[in-house]
Amino acid sequence: MEIKVRHAKPLTVKTDCLILGAYEKGLQGPLLKQLNQQLSGQINDAVRAKEFSGKLNELLVLRPAAGMPAKRILLIGLGSRSALTAERLRQASGTAIQYLKGKRLNGIACALTFEIGSSLDFKGQIQAVTEGLLLAGYRFDRYLSETIRAEGVLPNVVNLVVANPKDRSEAEKHVKQATLLCQAVKLTRDLVNEPGNSKSPAWLASQAETMAAESGLKCTIFDQARLLEEKFGALLGVAQGSEREPCLIVLEHHGGSEGDPPVALVGKGVVFDTGGISLKPSEKMDQMKMDMAGGAAVIGTMMAAALLNLPINLIGVVPAVENMPSGTAIRPGDILTSLSGQTVEVLNTDAEGRLILADALTYVKGHNPRLIVDLATLTGACIIALGHQATAVLGNDQKLIRDLITAGEVCGERLWQLPLWEDYDEQIKSEVADVKNIGGRPAGTITAAAFLKKFVSGLRWAHLDIAGTAWLEDRRPYIPKGGTGVGVRLLVTFLKSLT
Ligand code: BES
Ligand code: ZN
Ligand code: ZN
Repeated sequence: MEIKVRHAKPLTVKTDCLILGAYEKGLQGPLLKQLNQQLSGQINDAVRAKEFSGKLNELLVLRPAAGMPAKRILLIGLGSRSALTAERLRQASGTAIQYLKGKRLNGIACALTFEIGSSLDFKGQIQAVTEGLLLAGYRFDRYLSETIRAEGVLPNVVNLVVANPKDRSEAEKHVKQATLLCQAVKLTRDLVNEPGNSKSPAWLASQAETMAAESGLKCTIFDQARLLEEKFGALLGVAQGSEREPCLIVLEHHGGSEGDPPVALVGKGVVFDTGGISLKPSEKMDQMKMDMAGGAAVIGTMMAAALLNLPINLIGVVPAVENMPSGTAIRPGDILTSLSGQTVEVLNTDAEGRLILADALTYVKGHNPRLIVDLATLTGACIIALGHQATAVLGNDQKLIRDLITAGEVCGERLWQLPLWEDYDEQIKSEVADVKNIGGRPAGTITAAAFLKKFVSGLRWAHLDIAGTAWLEDRRPYIPKGGTGVGVRLLVTFLKSLT
């Protein structure tokens, strides 16, 4: 789906479906008043019949009388005028698009940015509506046969209607930017939704390489031989149970001045997590194809940074492995020597994410980054703590954490901080190695972060546990079921705030 800007008076647009916004208790705005009149009071009737009140994401389909250029009009509730935010606009546009999926329309026009209040600037409105439309229009359909795929399709183009011709080029600029960002989110979702049978570490690496070549990033892949040579002992330990060889994906974006220390992004890339010898229960194990969502978010963010020409230096690192039980797999009780030299007692092979991240963090430290952000579907405990509503953030630098939280509020990918007091280090002390890879039941998300902290000493660092936010079993207004692409819009918003 593509968004094109058109300038026109909304009610004169010829289209299969015109999307308009309506505020709660504000159904009498000039546009809706005119529309209501043209429709002989249909809107007022619906309000009186309690079919529609303008509450956020409420829908009302109107069938215009003959002679009107739009074949149908979809009214979408925006909530109260004073409470309008970018997030609400994203949701409203997304709700409209999800409703229209599979409705056999030849064209859609959206005039949602038309009648809105002043709390949001023009740029914010255009960006939010574009994101809502494109992100909601996403569908993972590459494995559907033609006829089934056709059932859920949307028109190729949505016309975004701006009333004032003077706004057109400005709108086009912001639509372009938001579209590029959404293309990166789409890549991330596609990578996460890809099933495990085709998703080997090598496949993920080739996807990153292709993306890098297309968007102008440098991409280096460390293969197994190189990882062995350079002593990525923790990463290799996790990988040794799988037939599929691990790799380390390194992406670089040089948008800043030469020699400026880069921001480092590190993402967990477990292409499938069976738990290893500490095997997971079979129920919902299928979801563990999403255990590379942190890595996918890093790949997507790097793509966005390149396409948007962010004026900053970036390095993105994804350790890619498969966690399998087999005759060659690591056992509970094994001791691994990590790239940092620290030894790790592996008491549970299902706590594999922190092991591969340990080596990736150590590797990235060698690039002297100005700060590190890692993303990982790291702990089930995070879902227990925060559900699917927020990503957990922990780290060693309160300013960095605050900036990330702010970016999350802006883009609608919310973060919630958990403490990382030294006291938790007690739980991961080992008798036989420098550290152990589990800290018991209490504070599982925190002890996982306490483990990572041992590999970033001396650097500003934040860890994002996206276990609850990377995958949804129920759709949201602009997020279909499955991989959400969480992290990309968050990090791009954060990186922009640094420039
Ligand atoms: N990938 C899982 C965490 C996870 C669980 C992500 C559910 C998304 C949904 C991770 O590798 C894991 O298995 N963690 C263990 C750690 C435990 C053994 C200390 C967990 O959370 O149970
Ligand atoms: Zn695991
Ligand atoms: Zn995992």
